[in-house]
Amino acid sequence: MTIDIPVTRTTQSRLAETDFNNLGFGTYISDHMLVADYHSGVWHKPYIRPFGEIGMTPAILALHYGQAIFEGMKAFRMKDGRINIFRPHRHHQRLLRSLDRMCMPPIAEDFFIHSLAAIIRADADWVPTQEGCSLYLRPVVFATESRLGVKVSDEYKFVVLTSPVGPYFTKPIRVKVEQHYVRAAEGGTGFAKCAGNYGGAFYPTALAKKEGFDQVLWTDAQSHQYIDESGAMNVMFVIDGKIVTPQLTSAILDGVTRDSILTLAAEMGMTVEQRRISVAELETAFKNNTLTEAFGVGTAAVVSAITGIHIHGTDYTLAPPDASSFQLRVKQLLSELRAGIRPDTHGWNYVID
Ligand code: COI
Repeated sequence: MTIDIPVTRTTQSRLAETDFNNLGFGTYISDHMLVADYHSGVWHKPYIRPFGEIGMTPAILALHYGQAIFEGMKAFRMKDGRINIFRPHRHHQRLLRSLDRMCMPPIAEDFFIHSLAAIIRADADWVPTQEGCSLYLRPVVFATESRLGVKVSDEYKFVVLTSPVGPYFTKPIRVKVEQHYVRAAEGGTGFAKCAGNYGGAFYPTALAKKEGFDQVLWTDAQSHQYIDESGAMNVMFVIDGKIVTPQLTSAILDGVTRDSILTLAAEMGMTVEQRRISVAELETAFKNNTLTEAFGVGTAAVVSAITGIHIHGTDYTLAPPDASSFQLRVKQLLSELRAGIRPDTHGWNYVID
C-alpha cells in the first residue's frame, strides 16, 4: 500500500544556518513536519508542511490530562548514499503499546512507515553525513479535543518532527541510584513512552544534577532494591564477563537499542542475562572488581559509558571504556550495520528508495 502524502515546501529553508559540525541533540528541527488528524473515529490522510506553529486552544485534553505519547527513532546515511531507518517496525509495535495504554487510537503500520519515509524524503538533505550523527525522528501523538471534562479524547494529532543530531552524551556519565523518588511502578505507565513519564522524572533528576550527577538510575518502586533503567535509556553491566541487564517489567521501557545490543552480544559469543539486578549485587561486584563495565543503551544515547555510580553515599568508579571493551565493540558493530558496512542479517535497516 502506498499513501499519497501531499507536500507543501517551505520558502525559507533553515538548512544553511544549521551547523552540522556542532549539532548537539535536538537543537535543530528540520524544515518540514508531517501532520495527520484523527477525528470521527478515523485517522485522516497525512500531509507535509513547513515546521512551525499549529493552531490549538489551551483546552486540548493532552495539556490537562496527559494523553500524549511519542517515539524516538533514527535515520542514517549509509555508505552507498542511501538512507535507512533503524527498526521502524519494532518502534511501531511499541507505539501501539503506548497508544493502547493511554486509550489512544492505533495507527496502522503502513500509515506509520509511509509517513516516516515521506518526511525523510522531504528533508533528505537534513540527514547528516558526519560520523556518529543521524536524523532523529520524533513521532508524537497527542489529544487535541478542546474540552475540560476528564475524558478520553475523541480527537488527536500525529506529528512527525525530525532533527539532525550528534551524540546525546558527549562524555562518560555519572549516575545516582535513586532510592527515594519513583519513575514508574509496576502496573503503571513505565513501559509506555508517554510524556508524563519524562515530566515526572525532571524533579529527582534535577536534584541529582545539583549533586553533580548526570542522570538518575531508577530502582523498582516497591522495594527500591532492584535496578530498573535510567531516565533516557536502559542500562547494562558487564559482571564476571557476562552482559547483565534488568529483565523487562511493566515499569521499564522495552528499548529497541536494548534488544539490538542483546542480540548482537549473543552473536559476539557473550553470555547474556536478563534478570533482576539488586543494588546490593552492584555494590558487591564493585568491591570484588567483577563489575567491569556499565553503560546506557537507547536510541538517543546509542551506547553511553557510565563511569560513576553513586550508591548509598558511596561513589563507585569505572575506567572509561577502551577499544577492547564490550560496549565500544558492540557500538562499532551497530554503527557499521546501520551504515551498510556490515551485512544486515536481521533486516533491521529499512532502506528508503
Ligand atoms: C530516545 O532515546 O529516543 C528517547 O526517547 C530518550 C530521550 C531522548 C527522551
